[in-house]
Amino acid sequence: MPSNPTTWHGRAPGRVNLIGEHVDYLGGVVLPAAVDRFTEVSGHVAERWSITSDVQGGLAYVRAVGEELGLEPQAVNVSSQVPPNAGISSSAALLVAVAAGLRPDMEGRQAALACQRAEQKATGVQVGVMDQFASALGRRGCALLLDCATLEYQVVPFPDEVAIAVIDSGEHRALADTPYNQRRREAEAGDARRMRHVDSEIARVHAFVAALRAREFGLMGSLLKESHASLRDDFEVSTPAIDALVECAWSADGCYGARIMGAGFGGSILALVDRSRTGAFERAVRRPVLLCATADGPYTQ
Ligand code: GLA
Repeated sequence: MPSNPTTWHGRAPGRVNLIGEHVDYLGGVVLPAAVDRFTEVSGHVAERWSITSDVQGGLAYVRAVGEELGLEPQAVNVSSQVPPNAGISSSAALLVAVAAGLRPDMEGRQAALACQRAEQKATGVQVGVMDQFASALGRRGCALLLDCATLEYQVVPFPDEVAIAVIDSGEHRALADTPYNQRRREAEAGDARRMRHVDSEIARVHAFVAALRAREFGLMGSLLKESHASLRDDFEVSTPAIDALVECAWSADGCYGARIMGAGFGGSILALVDRSRTGAFERAVRRPVLLCATADGPYTQ
């Protein structure tokens, strides 16, 4: 080890998923966007992996991504604006920030795949690639239409007049404590109700992209509502508290639509809101609202 090791830095954003939930690990299409909340890391070579952080529990992730990338142990310092366990992928932001700091030269898709494997290894949860991909390759002003079977993607412009609101339900969970793997197995086994969600959700992704390109914000909102009903009734990943929060958002002034976001079983909801009416929306939902804008990932060209 050098006596004065070189310090490296990395930074990566959290993500939202506009639509396309619980379809990434089945090779479906998804529409996430990186958002303007970032995790920053710095570090240097050390005798063993260690982490200094204002958030708990990151060591397993940092070590796993380092091992995936074939790197020497590092002492890593983490500082994050991405709230943990709240549905905007704090873990993907941490993994991608470390990869970007240590392997900025890597091809973005390969970095996302390495981060996905690291997350699976660190947690035992068989996550798809969406979160790591969005954090690595997200683009400011855009959402990513990602085909998870081929990793081909297109950027789809996302209008400034539509605010992306993330509302934490207060029901926090670690993915490892949820039936995520069970839902994945059920869908892979072809369970009829689970597949009804998957097939209808993929159709909604395409309809949402068409509505986005046509600036039909009301239609985008209706598709979010249908997505929520499908995740609640067919995929069964919602909770009563989340359903109540989604319904409250639906009825709030300025809201086009809302749905549960991410893995589910608690976490956060996503709402799309008329940017000029976010004040009224925030008062109506009576919970802290994280208003996000789209952002660049570290591997974006
Ligand atoms: C989590 C996983 C993703 C995806 C979503 C559900 O965020 O990390 O890969 O499966 O749940 O859409």
